[in-house]
Amino acid sequence: MAERDPDSAIRAAHRACMIEPKSRRLWNNFLLLLKTNGRAHELQTRTPRRQQQVPPLAQHPVDLEAAEARYRQLLDQMQTRSWEGWTPSRVEDSKYRFPLTREHLARFRSSEVSSGTQTAPDRPEGFPPLDFNQFYPPYSDADRARYTPLAWGQYAGLISRLFRRQGSGINWYDSAIIDDDRFGARVLELPGVGTVTGKSLNASYYACRIMSLIPKNGVVLEIGGGFGCLASRLMAIRPDVTYLLSDLPVNMVLTHTYLTSLYGDAVTGLWQDDDTLSAGHRAVVVPPWRLRSLPLRVDLAVNTMSFQHMDQRNHLFYGGVMKTLGVRSLYHVNRNEHMTTPEADTMVLPAEQYEFMKDFEIVESHDFDGRWIEVVAKARN
Ligand SMILES: C[S@@+](CC[C@H](N)C(=O)[O-])C[C@H]1O[C@@H](n2cnc3c(N)ncnc32)[C@H](O)[C@@H]1O
Repeated sequence: MAERDPDSAIRAAHRACMIEPKSRRLWNNFLLLLKTNGRAHELQTRTPRRQQQVPPLAQHPVDLEAAEARYRQLLDQMQTRSWEGWTPSRVEDSKYRFPLTREHLARFRSSEVSSGTQTAPDRPEGFPPLDFNQFYPPYSDADRARYTPLAWGQYAGLISRLFRRQGSGINWYDSAIIDDDRFGARVLELPGVGTVTGKSLNASYYACRIMSLIPKNGVVLEIGGGFGCLASRLMAIRPDVTYLLSDLPVNMVLTHTYLTSLYGDAVTGLWQDDDTLSAGHRAVVVPPWRLRSLPLRVDLAVNTMSFQHMDQRNHLFYGGVMKTLGVRSLYHVNRNEHMTTPEADTMVLPAEQYEFMKDFEIVESHDFDGRWIEVVAKARN
């Protein structure tokens, strides 16, 4: 049908979505028509909203030498604390040994030190896993021709999800997805929008979803945030929020590095026992072993694609952290299927079976592309 009269089919499908904005079936139909006709980019102008602008991406200096030294200290802590509940699961075991040199730090988005936090096309398909002897090549013209329509497809899928949820986050999406090539990121140009990455498209979606789940001047705790992409977008949309991030050592250093380059002195890390929280810090990297002693209450805990890389021991640990910090709500997106093959890059537990979910009451649960679920939950007490 798409081939004969795509214009009128697309117009009719679009009209149907505007009449029933929450209908997943109608949106899927509309998206399919757009994608099969190479017109996913039309959603940029066909989606009704009041666009808001985040400030342009700032560029602050980063002390890579200090970051490299910090990484060595954090690795030592991980060795010393190897019996603690937060330490890497089988899936993340290689992070005991990542060589985070200054060179890799300076170009971490083109390096396997960020593997696991970036997928294709940001990370080239077929790049040898954990090969630290080379960096990702820049996009060729053929890559751009191939990946730009796919990025539009990703954009269309995510903006339609935001539209279906009917929150105000959709107004921020287009400006939040703008990314640049700092730290060696491979960016694509979406005409009419700007430069983006697969990561910025996803992370901005999450930021637009959670922005309305956080009260004014609220506190967010993100567990396993990768290199801080979601945090960076949420901080741009909601400057009133205090954003705590905890992760494995290599990722804490990447996160601190990335966020410092964007937000300068507003970013800190509680690396030493006598480092404390202070007013003026908008993003705080907190080693997992310091989480329980934080003197504050968390309004929203966030986890995307990260509980799925943890084992039950890790879940028990972070479940305990969320209780201790009085987490009021939880937003998470994680794999919800049994992975049984030994080579599967994930743990075997589907998201619906996470033990700590007994402490929460589910408010929303949506399928996320078939394999994942997106959950909003409130603490039961
Ligand atoms: C697939 S990445 C997802 C990153 C980011 N949240 C995203 O959606 O792109 C998994 C993240 O979980 C983190 N992670 C895995 N096991 C962890 C643990 N035991 N404690 C803290 N973070 C962990 C990894 O270091 C990584 O940052």
